[in-house]
Amino acid sequence: MTTTRTQVAIVGAGPSGLLLGQLLHKAGIDAVIVERVSGEYVLGRIRAGILEQVCIDLMDEAGVGQRMHQEGLVHGGIEMLYGGQRHRVDLNKYSGGKNVMVYGQTELTRDLMDARQSVGLKTVYEVSNTAVHDFDSAKPYVTYEKDGQQHRIDCDFIAGCDGFHGVCRASAPRGAIREYEKVYPFGWLGLLSDTPPVNDELIYVNSPRGFALCSQRSKTRSRYYLQVPLTDKVEEWTDDAFWQELKLRLDEEGRDKLVTGPSLEKSIAPLRSFVTEPMRFGRMFLAGDAGHIVPPTGAKGLNLAATDVKYLFDAIVEFYKDKSEAGIDDYSRKCLGRIWRAERFSWWFTQLMHRFSHDEKITAKFQNAELDYLMHSEAGLTTIAENYVGLPLDFGR
Ligand code: APR
Ligand code: PHB
Repeated sequence: MTTTRTQVAIVGAGPSGLLLGQLLHKAGIDAVIVERVSGEYVLGRIRAGILEQVCIDLMDEAGVGQRMHQEGLVHGGIEMLYGGQRHRVDLNKYSGGKNVMVYGQTELTRDLMDARQSVGLKTVYEVSNTAVHDFDSAKPYVTYEKDGQQHRIDCDFIAGCDGFHGVCRASAPRGAIREYEKVYPFGWLGLLSDTPPVNDELIYVNSPRGFALCSQRSKTRSRYYLQVPLTDKVEEWTDDAFWQELKLRLDEEGRDKLVTGPSLEKSIAPLRSFVTEPMRFGRMFLAGDAGHIVPPTGAKGLNLAATDVKYLFDAIVEFYKDKSEAGIDDYSRKCLGRIWRAERFSWWFTQLMHRFSHDEKITAKFQNAELDYLMHSEAGLTTIAENYVGLPLDFGR
């Protein structure tokens, strides 16, 4: 067994773990990251790509925002297609001047990985049997195996950035944890292609055949989604079948403009709302998907992860610089306020846009009437815009 010592042991090198590691490095705080899979595997996972201003600001604070600003596309609006008609939500106007940025999670992750590598910071990839110990004391530690060798990291804090299936949440004492979960009766089939996006802005589609989303990664790369039954298998969906179904869910303008092409990636993701309370267990903290999952309809997953990391980073800095535990004590409460607001929005937006098997006809009528109200009311447009761009960090305080 080899033993090393660091200030913060981070479990998981997804966006949460990498962003925390980078921020800590900038603040002169030492951290080691352990990751179950390889770096290439992490980069191969296609996830969402809409950044709120808070996430953009954090990338800048971490000193890794350069490529994001060069290549990211600023969007000041989204389109909603229902009842065969498109309606634009002017995000900028109705949120008091805020925008979002289209920049893939893969790119953001790559920037963080490159930054970490360029200054020689330690990420241990392809570890197995990660375990967290003694986090109810001031001397927690993490153990793992790598190439058949046992390793131990002694630390002051453990950051559980290990996603929904990670070991940190699973190691919290069962009596101290509450979990809230809703699983939706459908999934999203996603397709990535090197084709120009069908529209400058994203289109969220409520159609009688089910939800669809026209998103993008750049001016030449598109990302599209279709609501599909959970029983569908991705292998059964040919590219042609995907494009055909998407056309059926779009309007005439969309059908005319849609450029199809071979898929670079296709996958089906289930939709889930999930929250863990609390987010702190002594000297161990959960951040990002380890603590909560949102259905992707509001594009909140990555942004929520980024704000958890911001709160955790501030708390850890306060601990070392000001010798105060106030930030740490308040971490869970602060995160959960923001998490529940984003969970609520993601759940509401999901209900509004998808076909549910029960109560079919009347639910579709309710959805249409609600969308019609929202699109023709200043209050309605404001509700969508201010939630979509992200509520201010001090909202409700
Ligand atoms: N030991 C080490 N690493 C682990 C372990 C373990 N036991 N279990 C999981 N991991 C790693 C995973 O391999 C993964 O790379 O933790 C990482 C968690 O990364 P993500 O799942 O991407 O979670 P997070 O960093 O919180 O990112 C949140 O990802 O899923 C999206 O919508 C979500 O965009 C949001 C973002
Ligand atoms: C995506 O581009 O993958 C994406 C965009 C917006 C969403 C969800 C996913 O709401």
